[in-house]
Amino acid sequence: MGKLNTILILFSLIMPLLGAFADAQMNMLEEEGLRNLCQGNEKFGKLHFYLQDVLGGLNATVWEVARAEITSNSPTSFGQVRVIDDLMTAEPDSSSAKLGRAQGLVTFADLENSGLAMNINFIFTAGIYNGSTLSVLGRNLMTEQNRELAVVGGTGIFRLARGYAISSTYSYDTVTSYGVLEYTLYIAYVELGFGPITSH
Ligand SMILES: *[C@@H]1O[C@H](CO)[C@@H](O)[C@H](O)[C@H]1NC(C)=O
Ligand SMILES: *[C@@H]1O[C@H](CO)[C@@H](O)[C@H](O)[C@H]1NC(C)=O
Repeated sequence: MGKLNTILILFSLIMPLLGAFADAQMNMLEEEGLRNLCQGNEKFGKLHFYLQDVLGGLNATVWEVARAEITSNSPTSFGQVRVIDDLMTAEPDSSSAKLGRAQGLVTFADLENSGLAMNINFIFTAGIYNGSTLSVLGRNLMTEQNRELAVVGGTGIFRLARGYAISSTYSYDTVTSYGVLEYTLYIAYVELGFGPITSH
């Protein structure tokens, strides 16, 4: 681990010079580090997908469910609570492979910054992940390019999951209020079986 840390520090020093290449190397080293931390029956998983975040129109997948007295006058929409049911796709294109849904609550929870409190379940419906879920909590500071959230648990294949998620806005169309969000999850979990969840 010491050696790995040294390498990581070295990489963080020269990163500005090497740009995207170093970024990729860094990710590989970070992944390697996380992989080494997994013990016993734990597996390391990296999941990458996109959310179709439709804020407007008849088919919106994001809806306001509550707001506070001050929300309308708050520069950060403080107090607004939204419920979401976003389609998860393999690629940014909404017609790419469907992986599941992202469902939960998004609360505008910061009086001074565009900071959201997220409480989202990723519900997988594709392939071996079908029926398994991952639960994500955390602060989502919209002014940051990469937002880090905590993966706090999971069900099915992802039982005992823990880790973190990096979220960024891939695109946002202000005319149609259509956003595409990119998510990468790094998790350790215990794969207890491939069978239907009800069988054990
Ligand atoms: C809403 O979804 C329906 C069914 O997929 C589609 O026919 C319709 O064009 C959509 N409407 C809008 C405003 O996107
Ligand atoms: C996922 O599981 C449900 C319930 O068992 C099943 O109806 C559905 O066909 C499955 N979907 C895929 C893509 O395997």
